[in-house]
Amino acid sequence: MNAADSAEMLLHLAARGCAQTEDLDTADIVLLNTCTVRDHAEHRALSFLGRLAKWKAAKEGRVIIFAGCAAQRLGKSVRRKFPQADIIAGAKNIDGFAEIIDNSRLFAPAGAQSGQEQSGLIGLVNITRGCGFKCAYCIVPYVRGEAHSLPPEIIFKETRRKLDGGAAEIMLLGQVVNGYNYKGLNFSGLLKELIQLPQLKRLRWMSPHPAFIDEEFAQTIALSQKLSRHMHLPVQSGSSKVLQEMKRGYTREIFLEKIKLLDQAGVRVSTDIIVGYPTETQKDFEDTLSLLDAVPFTGAYCFKFSPRALTPAAALPPIPEEVVEKRLDILLNKVKQSSKAAYARQTGSVQPVLFETPQNGRTLTNFWVRTTRKYKIGEITDIEIKEAKETILLG
Ligand code: 5AD
Ligand code: SF4
Repeated sequence: MNAADSAEMLLHLAARGCAQTEDLDTADIVLLNTCTVRDHAEHRALSFLGRLAKWKAAKEGRVIIFAGCAAQRLGKSVRRKFPQADIIAGAKNIDGFAEIIDNSRLFAPAGAQSGQEQSGLIGLVNITRGCGFKCAYCIVPYVRGEAHSLPPEIIFKETRRKLDGGAAEIMLLGQVVNGYNYKGLNFSGLLKELIQLPQLKRLRWMSPHPAFIDEEFAQTIALSQKLSRHMHLPVQSGSSKVLQEMKRGYTREIFLEKIKLLDQAGVRVSTDIIVGYPTETQKDFEDTLSLLDAVPFTGAYCFKFSPRALTPAAALPPIPEEVVEKRLDILLNKVKQSSKAAYARQTGSVQPVLFETPQNGRTLTNFWVRTTRKYKIGEITDIEIKEAKETILLG
């Protein structure tokens, strides 16, 4: 999501004559795009902004743009505490970014676009913005605003632009990507239309919500080998009690039913888990562990609960840090085993791999593969999986 937002902002800067560099010494502008989903992310962004004061003072005319979710949340106090930030552009305002930079009068007028955009092999395309859920721990709805779906014309225009720029794969993005609904056109409907594009070789999406996984979706997946057979589907907890307290809108049992639907459609699943939610008991934590036995997740990102301002969960008394640490440790170990087993199960299979370098690519189920022979970048080739390492398949 943030990568896509950065790309969008960079496009507006490019239209005003800027070229991209990763080298701070030669740069005239820093675009700092930020995350606020956990305290740690925000902290890192602010300390980087702090360090940039020196960079800015070293050369006349240097500009700092502080953008994204932390900018949305902390705009006013950042202005006060970090005068080095020339422009503050919150995540809610991504559509107004061009106006914000023009209003600053620090940039040349738009028009200096530097030719055809090279989008890389994977084109990121936003299809929804904001979030219509209010999970009790999550700050996203507050900083990104209410959910809305972008019109299909815009999505098609963006997708075509990425494909013309050299993308073979499109990644549809949204906070709740599969909650897409534009005047009755739902996510399955959108997928059915997008797979008609002849240049498109693969279509993936992130992040889906379990609430929108249904029969129609499972049937849609079966329609095309262009559609990803992998989903990163956040579960957050294996305890129905905690899920209810988190206001996730499903129980463990419902989640398991969704997994069954996906499994029948050949879709492999990875997930996000929050450990140490304030009301999580030892029994709740054990429910999360047992979910990992029940579902063959290919991987999981595990996060320690981080209290975020404005969210109801931030008001709950936290559980002791050492308990959280211990649970995280146990969970990470278990996730590692689960992921290792998922990789091992691929040995002996033949799978279509989309090559991102001459010897590295991804299966349709999103396993990373390294091959002994070289293949054409952007092409899909059937590869026999000979061996599974912990985080890569050898083909
Ligand atoms: N604390 C810890 N993890 C969180 N996430 C969202 N909010 C919090 C929080 N307050 C995690 C969820 C989500 C992922 C993007 O970040 O697991 O799926
Ligand atoms: Fe946050 Fe829940 Fe919305 Fe995901 S669905 S962005 S966790 S509020």
